[in-house]
Amino acid sequence: MSTTKKKLLGVLKGARLERPPMWLMRQAGRYLPEYRALRAEKGGFLALATDPDAAAEVTLQPIRRFGFDGAILFSDILMVPWALGQDLSFGVGEGPKLEPPLVDATLSSLERAPERLEPVYGTVRRVAAALPSETTFLGFAGSPWTVATYMVAGRGSKDQGETRRFAYRDEAAFGEIIDAIVGLTVEYLARQIEAGVEAVQLFDSWAGSLSPQQFERWVVAPNAAIVARLRERCPGVPVIGFPKGAGGKLPAYARETGVDAVGLDETVDPHWAHASLPEGLPVQGNLDPLLLIAGGEALDASVDDILFALRDRPHVFNLGHGIDQHTPIAHVERLIAWVRG
Ligand code: CP3
Repeated sequence: MSTTKKKLLGVLKGARLERPPMWLMRQAGRYLPEYRALRAEKGGFLALATDPDAAAEVTLQPIRRFGFDGAILFSDILMVPWALGQDLSFGVGEGPKLEPPLVDATLSSLERAPERLEPVYGTVRRVAAALPSETTFLGFAGSPWTVATYMVAGRGSKDQGETRRFAYRDEAAFGEIIDAIVGLTVEYLARQIEAGVEAVQLFDSWAGSLSPQQFERWVVAPNAAIVARLRERCPGVPVIGFPKGAGGKLPAYARETGVDAVGLDETVDPHWAHASLPEGLPVQGNLDPLLLIAGGEALDASVDDILFALRDRPHVFNLGHGIDQHTPIAHVERLIAWVRG
């Protein structure tokens, strides 16, 4: 099948377009009334994510409503810890929980359950069969450091202190956790690709909490390993790396991991990014999601600045982080109209 109609995939492979293709991180989710209705019917996030028909429907909802250039698989980065044997739950208003946390239990005491990922591949097959031919289908996984922060603490935390302490205290044990995540993540992404996704994103939401040496060790090295192994198994499939909070470490991250595109969070000046990142490297981003809640002329001006800063390189328009659940739909519509010109 020709990919020439797929603008997003073309840009991830290095094309520069007059108007960038766009999608929004967390575009399938709670700001959409049709998502909230289906989640209520299914009885929660995990029930939704493990029901391939429902998860495919949720993946397609923002495509139908907004016609984004990319569809992102509806799943979660915590499916990998679940398949590594931790119990996973999403309490209402609490955030996710993994049990037992690895501060209290060893990795080898967990019973692995890779079959827990099978429904995700079913979702991918259904979406691939239903997507418009111009839409690029994105798979994803969490990056090892970010996933490990949830596995060690058993939940999200502000500064990832428990996991950073663990990594300093017992580097060997922490290295084993990272290696286990790397191994399963390669398999998970390869199976997504084999089932029909066309590019993948590695979400490293907590990359910003590490010292430079720890960043090299727990962010750069594991992501480089995933990219190299995935490239061997699935050549030609672009990998987007999104090390949120990496700031001045972004150029090194881009060079050393070998990712095909880099996601910028909203704290990165896109003019700096253009001047600092390897020439021709596709970048994605980076509107502040809170500006999308505010809307109005400030939103338009920020979009213009991003478009101008990145006009001379392959650019995928996106937010700097996930869309907030309180975002008015009218503002998303305004953003799309503004980006598309
Ligand atoms: O549109 C999409 O991007 C859909 C797929 C997706 C989800 N989570 C669905 C989801 C993706 C790509 C993610 C990534 C994810 N999950 C990250 C990395 C990106 C980021 O935002 O930093 C992280 C850290 C998680 C872990 C996670 N999952 C948390 C902390 C939470 C609870 C808080 C929150 O943001 O809702 C989840 C639950 C979750 N994952 C929801 C969705 C739509 C909300 C569940 C609900 O409906 O209540």
